[in-house]
Amino acid sequence: MRTPLVAGNWKMHGNRAANRVLLEAVVRETETLGGVECVVCVPFPYLGEVAGQLAKTRLVWGAQNLSEHSHGAFTGEVSATMLAEFNCRYVIVGHSERRQHYGETDAVVAAKYAAVLAQGMKPILCVGETLVQRDAGQTEQVVARQLQVVLDLSGKKSLENAVLAYEPVWAIGSGRTATPEQAQAVHAFLRARVLRETCILYGGSVKPENAAALFAMQDVDGGLIGGASLVAGDFIAIARAAQHKG
Ligand code: 13P
Repeated sequence: MRTPLVAGNWKMHGNRAANRVLLEAVVRETETLGGVECVVCVPFPYLGEVAGQLAKTRLVWGAQNLSEHSHGAFTGEVSATMLAEFNCRYVIVGHSERRQHYGETDAVVAAKYAAVLAQGMKPILCVGETLVQRDAGQTEQVVARQLQVVLDLSGKKSLENAVLAYEPVWAIGSGRTATPEQAQAVHAFLRARVLRETCILYGGSVKPENAAALFAMQDVDGGLIGGASLVAGDFIAIARAAQHKG
């Protein structure tokens, strides 16, 4: 059985005071929330502080990115070993914002995925098509390629320790969610290429209002949540929707 998972991706939002208040509220609720794993992926400068605040709680934290290199002269980069030193559990790799704005190729994403695994952390591998690609009927081709490059490097068995996230680029931050049926279609396509136990999250304008319908889909095992993860009540409501999955 796959345990539902809800991961917040704070992106480049937050400050120390606001983070503390947000996490206090989320922790209060997640302590008694069974049947769903809740994760927050926070900006690098806050990792140490968040790790301290979340120690001995059920709320897990992760990072949003890392370097594909283990160490060396890479100014401004953060390595997997640095994250692991703080007991980081999850790292998002291949988010479309990194592919789009920072030129991350499939090969770089694959190297990052391997770097996360090598330090005993779990990658949350993001795949997804743009609107142009969807309209051209290329959705399956695009996500299959993004996934395959990773599997070619790390092997399918690596998925035992990884999470996949389908995030259609056109649904991110746009308020335009994929319909549950659109999400399920791509998730089913991905399911055939991963392991039965691989958790496949949906991401893209997930809100309390649409979460239950998305999570009701057979192959949607939870969500990767952007904007709504910054509002404690919304994030918790989404986690509760995943908890009631099935
Ligand atoms: P939104 O939930 O704000 O659309 O962001 C989704 C996302 O990119 C999560 O990684």
